[in-house]
Amino acid sequence: MSQITVTGGKPLVGRVDIKGAKNLVTKAMVAALLGESPSILRDVPFISDVEIVSRLLQLHGVKIEHSADGVMHLDPSNVASARMIDIDAHAGSSRIPILFCGPLLHRLGEAFIPGLGGCHIGDRPIDYHFEVLRKFGAVIEELENGTRLSAPKGLKGAKISLPYPSVGATEQVLLTATRAQGITELTGAAIEPEIMDLISILQKMGAIISVDTDRVIRIEGVAELNGFDHRALFDRNEAASWACAALATKGEIFVGGARQQEMSMFLNVFRKVGGAFEIQDDGIRFYHPGGDLRPVVLETDVHPGFMTDWQQPLVVALTQAKGLSIIHETVYENRFGFTDALVQMGAQIQIYRECLGGTACRFGQRNFNHSAVISGPTELKAADIRVPDLRGGFSHMVAALAAQGTSVVTNVQLISRGYEHFLQKLTDLGADFTYSE
Ligand code: EPZ
Repeated sequence: MSQITVTGGKPLVGRVDIKGAKNLVTKAMVAALLGESPSILRDVPFISDVEIVSRLLQLHGVKIEHSADGVMHLDPSNVASARMIDIDAHAGSSRIPILFCGPLLHRLGEAFIPGLGGCHIGDRPIDYHFEVLRKFGAVIEELENGTRLSAPKGLKGAKISLPYPSVGATEQVLLTATRAQGITELTGAAIEPEIMDLISILQKMGAIISVDTDRVIRIEGVAELNGFDHRALFDRNEAASWACAALATKGEIFVGGARQQEMSMFLNVFRKVGGAFEIQDDGIRFYHPGGDLRPVVLETDVHPGFMTDWQQPLVVALTQAKGLSIIHETVYENRFGFTDALVQMGAQIQIYRECLGGTACRFGQRNFNHSAVISGPTELKAADIRVPDLRGGFSHMVAALAAQGTSVVTNVQLISRGYEHFLQKLTDLGADFTYSE
């Protein structure tokens, strides 16, 4: 298990450059499976989620080259079934394998999906995914070590309505419907910028997809798709993470590659809290302009709301705001576990089961600790912490960097699931730390 010993209390200052979004790139790689010809994906970060998806694609015969400058070539000319035992070796490592279902059913008529992994931030069921796939005509068999799927009568377009605008289930529909026979109409779709970018990729491949108002997406199935050449949308979660790191450590970070449009909701909140930013052509400079930070009341939501992935790094900055902040988490029922470590470091945070500060959500009355009240400012003290998940782990690192004294943060390899060259970036920002395996 890798660990970082970090001496905090020093502002992070400098520049980081970010690449394509983890939550787009991995799906775009799966989309390449649908093409008859090779694809090129640009700005692909070197993160472990990309490595896992690469290995799974390679097991299915896709040739992959990922050059140092982030250009990935994917050649699906020889797609073939993989051995269950080899696929199973990846059980528990990621959530992306569930998105292989549609493309593999189209290419091979069958699919085997290992047990899923991903961050422990709620139950994260896959019932919508299975429901969607059944509507297309897939037959699903749940085995002890994974799921086997077949499509004896082929995949046919369907009318689908999602009970909640799930990102993954919307992607499942897109990746399955583009080559299904006939028309698919999806209502209740997620419309995150990463989904819009996936739609652009599928359109480049030859798909016919229209996004209507009120979360309706229509897809006209086509018999064949080609490869694509696409530069991935930047990682707005990573951009927001570094922005919060600048605020919490009273520093200044230029995030190269960040863009205003996809972050406008975050930028509004950042400004309300007392952070400052400057939009430039090639990125955004985030900084603490001095003075007190202000508390905020907000709820996380699906796009165009405030993203759940931004919540964790923001909470660290809010421990430094003067007054009471309230955050109502409405996307995941269990995403405040990371605050225990912040409390251990001196933060005053209380977690409630009630829906606080906003509209009632689907977690109200169900005993889920999904609202947080943060009282600040509190001086953070060093502590020994174990990283629990990707965004929570980043937040712990930021807390340790803002805290007085020397903290030991273990299990930091989890952070590399979503943050490319994380240690190098910390060094570039002047952080005082040592790393050991
Ligand atoms: C994606 O997860 C992202 N992951 C998450 O990022 C992100 O937080 C989330 O979307 C919301 O934006 C990837 O893209 C790999 P969902 P996903 O389906 O697709 C419930 C990060 O840190 N649900 O939109 O798995 C679910 O439990 C990660 O980068 C069902 O009930 O999220 C959750 O409460 C973490 N049944 C809600 O929907 C289902 O079958 C939203 O989940 C599917 C989802």
